[in-house]
Amino acid sequence: MFSEIIKRFRNLANPCSFDRYLKDNVIERENISSRISFSVCVERVFSDPHDLDNAAMGRPSIRVAQSKTLKGCVVDAAREGRTMVDTSIMIVDAESTIAALPFQPLVNELQVAFRRGCVAPVRHHHTIERTGEPDATLLLMPAWSNPNEEDQYLGVKLVTVVPGNAARGLPGLTSTYMLYNAIDGRQLALMDGNAITSRRTVATSALAGRFLSREDARSLLVIGAGRVASLIPEAYQAVRPIEKVAIWDINIDNARALAKSLGDRGICAEIVSDLEQAVGRADVVSAATLSTSAIIKGAWIKSGTHIDLIGGFTPKMREADDAALALSRAYVDTREALHEAGDLVQPIETGVVSQDHIQGTLADLANGLIQGRTTAEEVTYFKAVGSALADLAAAKMVYEKIQAGGR
Ligand SMILES: NC(=O)c1ccc[n+]([C@@H]2O[C@H](COP(=O)([O-])OP(=O)(O)OC[C@H]3O[C@@H](n4cnc5c(N)ncnc54)[C@H](O)[C@@H]3O)[C@@H](O)[C@H]2O)c1
Repeated sequence: MFSEIIKRFRNLANPCSFDRYLKDNVIERENISSRISFSVCVERVFSDPHDLDNAAMGRPSIRVAQSKTLKGCVVDAAREGRTMVDTSIMIVDAESTIAALPFQPLVNELQVAFRRGCVAPVRHHHTIERTGEPDATLLLMPAWSNPNEEDQYLGVKLVTVVPGNAARGLPGLTSTYMLYNAIDGRQLALMDGNAITSRRTVATSALAGRFLSREDARSLLVIGAGRVASLIPEAYQAVRPIEKVAIWDINIDNARALAKSLGDRGICAEIVSDLEQAVGRADVVSAATLSTSAIIKGAWIKSGTHIDLIGGFTPKMREADDAALALSRAYVDTREALHEAGDLVQPIETGVVSQDHIQGTLADLANGLIQGRTTAEEVTYFKAVGSALADLAAAKMVYEKIQAGGR
């Protein structure tokens, strides 16, 4: 409804202020019951003078134009004669979150963020006991800007994991990102946490790929075909001249569905059944699965390949075997990976490699403290478990982009 109002306003033969237009025309015509509360809502939405200017010039407030949920709230509140308590928070749905995070700028943003660092306390896991179904979990991932930074943001990703939802036919994981001003604690925006997570995850891998894969890497093997894996080709194309994409998944239907959706997005991908051969041909092998046993074998990897492991996030999960790690120059997103990821925990525990085998973190690479790939022949290896730093960087990018009026 709001976009229709804005369209009509823009087409006015005799321009006037948007506020005037709303008061004189829209409220009567749309049969909105409370003129006063609607005006209050509009004024609050346009509470900052910059937004009022925009409105008067026919450039509606980005908060109204981009945030569907907020649009709904304002109009609903007006219809019901309620006054919204606080409309200054930007509510960004999944579609707008995705639109604000194109991969190339996101990878660049992450490179800056990993260079600068931030404060990121250990994530909190809270178990929520359930009867008649598995326990649920509430996960909180806070992070805030270092005190010396010019931009001061604070954010928390809130994730609920409800395994019992499978029986309800509902997704097991729901994620929301809350962004604040770190100076005064004001709430700034509420965003779709799933979109933040999946995009920052593959962009983090692409950033590692920028340091670790061969510059002429053209062929990419994607192992897994789920939500995260579906974004890997696009993210790598932002940093390398990827021309050939192959997909392997334990579930062939998932692989088919991903190949089709990539095709719809203009990325030609083939499904492979011989994994050994596919690993042996790829310049980059990127895995995002839920596997608990090694899928990628060191013996299959050709020289010069970059191995990127996204999936395993517990000490019991594995995506590559010990040999793959032993023959590679290995890196991690953050040092937490050494304690959380089975692909590192297990070979370190059994003495296949020591902790010193890990060259360093993405922050070390971004700060130039360590070298990435040094020769065209070496095999490189990156293991990520995800970071609140990357969430905060992505959320900041969404907020600033929408504030500036871009999508
Ligand atoms: N590193 C990070 O920052 C980060 C962030 C988000 C998700 N993840 C992890 O990435 C993984 C994938 O997440 P998702 O949301 O895409 O999940 P998803 O359920 O959407 O997809 C998982 C895919 O992996 C496939 N799969 C499962 N077991 C497999 C196996 N043994 N071999 C090959 N394929 C297998 C499934 O068929 C499915 O296609 C999860 O483990 C998730 O926790 C990591």
